[in-house]
Amino acid sequence: MSELIESKAISTDLRRLDGLAKVRGTAPYAFDQEVENPAYLYPVQATIARGKVSRIDTGDAEALEGVIAVITHLNAPKLAQTDDAEYTVLQGPEVGFRGQFVGAVIADSFETARHAAGLVAVEYEADEHDALLRSDHPGLYAPEEVNGGFDTDTAEGDVEAALAEAAVVIDHVYTTPAEHNNPMEPHATVAVWEGGALTLYDSTQGVHPVRKTIAPIFGLEPENVRVIAPHVGGGFGSKGLPHAHVILAALAAQCSNGRPVKFALTRQQMFSLAGYRTPTIQHVRLGATEDGRLTAICQDVVEPTSRIKEFAEQTGVPARMMYASPNRKTTHRLAKLDIPVPSWMRGPGECPGMFGPEVAMDELAEACGLDPIELRVRNEPQIDPDSGKPFSSRHLLECLAKGAERFGWDRRNARPGSREEDGWLVGLGVASSTYPFSRVPENTARIRFNVDGNYAVQIGAADLGTGTWTTLTQIAADALDCPIERIRLEIGDTSLPVASVAGGSSGTASWGGAIIAAAAAFRNQHGDKPEAGAQAQAQGMKDPDTERYAMHSFGAQFAEARVHADTGEVRVSRMLGVFSAGRIINPRTARSQFIGGMTMGIGMALHEDGVMDARFGKVMNHDLAEYHIPANADIEDVDAIWLEETDHRAGPLGARGIGEIGIVGAAAAIANATYNATGIRVRELPLTPDKFL
Ligand code: MOS
Repeated sequence: MSELIESKAISTDLRRLDGLAKVRGTAPYAFDQEVENPAYLYPVQATIARGKVSRIDTGDAEALEGVIAVITHLNAPKLAQTDDAEYTVLQGPEVGFRGQFVGAVIADSFETARHAAGLVAVEYEADEHDALLRSDHPGLYAPEEVNGGFDTDTAEGDVEAALAEAAVVIDHVYTTPAEHNNPMEPHATVAVWEGGALTLYDSTQGVHPVRKTIAPIFGLEPENVRVIAPHVGGGFGSKGLPHAHVILAALAAQCSNGRPVKFALTRQQMFSLAGYRTPTIQHVRLGATEDGRLTAICQDVVEPTSRIKEFAEQTGVPARMMYASPNRKTTHRLAKLDIPVPSWMRGPGECPGMFGPEVAMDELAEACGLDPIELRVRNEPQIDPDSGKPFSSRHLLECLAKGAERFGWDRRNARPGSREEDGWLVGLGVASSTYPFSRVPENTARIRFNVDGNYAVQIGAADLGTGTWTTLTQIAADALDCPIERIRLEIGDTSLPVASVAGGSSGTASWGGAIIAAAAAFRNQHGDKPEAGAQAQAQGMKDPDTERYAMHSFGAQFAEARVHADTGEVRVSRMLGVFSAGRIINPRTARSQFIGGMTMGIGMALHEDGVMDARFGKVMNHDLAEYHIPANADIEDVDAIWLEETDHRAGPLGARGIGEIGIVGAAAAIANATYNATGIRVRELPLTPDKFL
């Protein structure tokens, strides 16, 4: 166990320290960064799903006044590393998906660049393509591992035998559609070359990871790439890894007569170039005794990957550890399709992967005549069924109990369709939530005591809008045992010590661990009355407990859904999440993370659906007019609370992650509520009105 840092500034609901700057418009986002004499980039995108560019005529574009250069695969500078097809931009005529970059215009203004891009004439030799996911897709294959480094398949016991003998069997296919990350700030990069060194102002979840990825692609030493991102307008995973636009901006800035190049993706371009959550087909089978004790859990997942770059969503992972059962099996199979490259989206794995099993649990509860909460109580494991290790802290049942009381679960009528109010069928639903805790030890922080009596606290972390500026200041204040006013936090720049990505719900615990280590080193070396200029640097420590315990956050999602009896319209009138995530660093920013995740879960449940037209390999609803997300009017009463808890095994902060768990289980809880309201079981997201008529 680590020695825990005491809560003084930590656990107070400090307002965002960057809030005023954001409201006043003085917080610079990537595209806002002032650079001298910038040029603007607009891309040309492929209009076929697979094949190659056979002819490209840039004459009309080049003739336009204000155009600096038009780059294509014929004249683009060569990249030093081309082993990742997503990043291999304009290096050859091949097209791997519709929307891929085939050219770019650099001009004096954005408008000129866009106009000129429309004048570039491209002819293609199209190959046959395949963009249609089917559960029996020919050529389904097992990847070597799935995202996060998890095993592709797991098996224990004999699920087939157990299912054959089970008193109660649930056997259904559940599907989730493609979902697209749409942070408010689009993906944007400003690229500046100076004497062989590259500076990128980039909208990213991690400046150091961008540097590490980009440097070898341009044949540079990492020290010659600087990435700067003080403020980021959301990411949800889509800015966790650089995408092709970062490479295109840097390439273009080599062809712009020395001018910096500014490039922001449009909302429509983001749908093919920023990553997205893959659709999933989940065959879930549960076997149980009459009194609802699971004897078999099986989840077989089919999902697509882009043919040019493998990404395997770890959809089957949460079913491995959620409930006790002697027989368990999970598999992932991929179909290689000619589609844009999928990637991380809030709660990779757990988010789609808890939909099928948590709806199936609702179906099993009904089949056994049990309350859905009681079913979960009966299948609560004593240790992690997957790893065999004890949990560092597992309070799922407390979350369910506390939520049931607060939400008024006792008013739920187990018979579906039994409550109608003014033409609306009303129902309640519940689902479990979970997300693994991960803390990246390879983080370094530096602390310097300034002449003005303040501490500079430096780490190359990121604030996506989630509150890092505020929470790391709180952690530093407690680690140095001083008031927060004396902390000068510096983040979002590769000139600061190395930090891991703001992803996988790992940021605060990982960076906070490094700050605590640096503060300890500083106080050790310089005491509490340091001289100006005193400094110390230290790396976060790997905690031996992370090997000995299974570490996950848990939660319970409760939803009240109203389904209109005549129109099928679905509304979520109430929602409550109860979470167990270790120590909460700042209740204000934490609450907004949780209810933000739950709101995104309402979008997943009711609205979001990336529609792939397989004939063209095109995401047809590629903007926010047609790709629906919840508006304020869709969000009624959403609340999140948490258990007061400190996880003594989760490092010196005692905190696990909170970034993703808010979305996990939300869609299942809502689907279960619509079943309780109507008696109609929808196993295919989103829960659109047609499915209730
Ligand atoms: Mo999160 S999807 O790991 O940014």
